[in-house]
Amino acid sequence: MNISIILAAGEGTRMKSDIPKVLHKICGKPMLEYVIDNSKEAGIDKNYIIIGHGGQKVKDAFSHKDVVFKDQPIGPQYPYGTGFAVMQAKEHIEDDSNVVILCGDTPLITSKTIGELIQYHIGNKNFGTVLTAYVEDPTGYGRIIRDEEGNIEKIVEHKDANEEEINIREINSGIYCFKGEQLKYALDKIDNNNAQGELYITDVISILKKEGYKVGAYLIEDASEIYGVNSRVQLAFCEKVMRHRINRYHMENGVTIIDPDNTYIEAEVKIGRDTIVYPGAILKGNTTIGSDCIIGENTRIENSSIGNGVEIFSSTIEESVVSDCCHIGPYAHLRPNSHLGKNIRIGNFVEVKNSNIGDNSKAAHLAYIGDADVGKNVNIGCGVVFVNYDGLKKHRTIVEDNAFIGSNSNLIAPVKVKKWGYVAAGSTITHEVEESSLAIARARQVNKIGWVEKKKFKKDK
Ligand code: UD1
Ligand code: CA
Repeated sequence: MNISIILAAGEGTRMKSDIPKVLHKICGKPMLEYVIDNSKEAGIDKNYIIIGHGGQKVKDAFSHKDVVFKDQPIGPQYPYGTGFAVMQAKEHIEDDSNVVILCGDTPLITSKTIGELIQYHIGNKNFGTVLTAYVEDPTGYGRIIRDEEGNIEKIVEHKDANEEEINIREINSGIYCFKGEQLKYALDKIDNNNAQGELYITDVISILKKEGYKVGAYLIEDASEIYGVNSRVQLAFCEKVMRHRINRYHMENGVTIIDPDNTYIEAEVKIGRDTIVYPGAILKGNTTIGSDCIIGENTRIENSSIGNGVEIFSSTIEESVVSDCCHIGPYAHLRPNSHLGKNIRIGNFVEVKNSNIGDNSKAAHLAYIGDADVGKNVNIGCGVVFVNYDGLKKHRTIVEDNAFIGSNSNLIAPVKVKKWGYVAAGSTITHEVEESSLAIARARQVNKIGWVEKKKFKKDK
């Protein structure tokens, strides 16, 4: 049986944050969630998460996941360190199980690599295997010390390394696979005789080696998988790696991304084929985009569903539904709970909120549509305002199919414009407009003949 112990109890001091480190997000998803998901995907179904600093917050964030939380006691009277963290799950370690140790702050590890590590460990009949890689800058990482034959001897922390060791560029990922029985045996033997006065899990490797148990290192090519996050700079670095991974995934599935360096797609977003995404697009949360869409420059879409063949330019869409063939923007804003039917045009500087709009309707310029039910084939002119708020309450406006709302009109809610109703430009509508009727609600125009001339004449005198 394979189990995992995922370390997530550390303070994350170097983040300088009130949020537990493992809850900091990478492409919209907490770091720890990637580790849990990939562990499960690698076929490990018993996952123990060690929590401590900010533990309740971590528990709350993952209460929906099928994992077991173990509390690491924190305080001056308790030891500290990755070794002490692993000890908290000791009672769950069976002698003949393979125990994979993962770190909540190493989010780029893939399920494929976790699987390969287990296979390598079993294949080589090791009692302990550490996942390693070569990096350009090993600062802060544990170094892999090998003997003359190239076998791993021990892991030395950056702070404990001597002049020679500090130049080694093969680093410890913090990810290991151990045979249960020997892991428990070695855990009892680690001490805090090191620069940080901590119990290091890394010492298990040298303890097993000394006792004659076979240990090994599984060296991987792609060092980016094992980058850890200790600081905000490393957080941004991992975000960049993950962003490219996500963008590559979509491109491989038939999405055109004009500039993958400047396209920000979060982990859970789904995009259909032949959609084109332009630079500056930010696609967030639980968003689904259909096929053959154009997601234009500087568009932000969050928790929304976009149909097929939709074109959106420089606009913001939040918690809304946009059906097929709509054309949105530039500079439109769909606020939460906007539901657009098919083939709708929402143009420049139009804001929609908590409204339903039927197929083929249009609001091409400068309008506010709030708390409304708008039917099909409705034309909403330039400058129309749905006046939904009386200072105390919001009210709804109903505009039925085929109505025409002339430019610069106010519809003062609650109010209804019935089918084929026609509101003259500049009207302020406070009463229901009957079916197929024209409503004009504005002062009549008066022309004062020669008025200007008279005014000038007076002035000249
Ligand atoms: C650790 C390794 C180092 C490796 C690096 C890879 C040790 C001693 N060092 O260093 O060799 O190169 O990871 O990223 O293991 N944690 C707990 N309880 C604790 C302390 C830490 O759960 O008491 C958790 C942290 O939340 C974190 C993980 O363990 O998720 C690693 O701890 P961290 O302090 O970041 O270790 P590093 O200094 O990065
Ligand atoms: Ca770390």
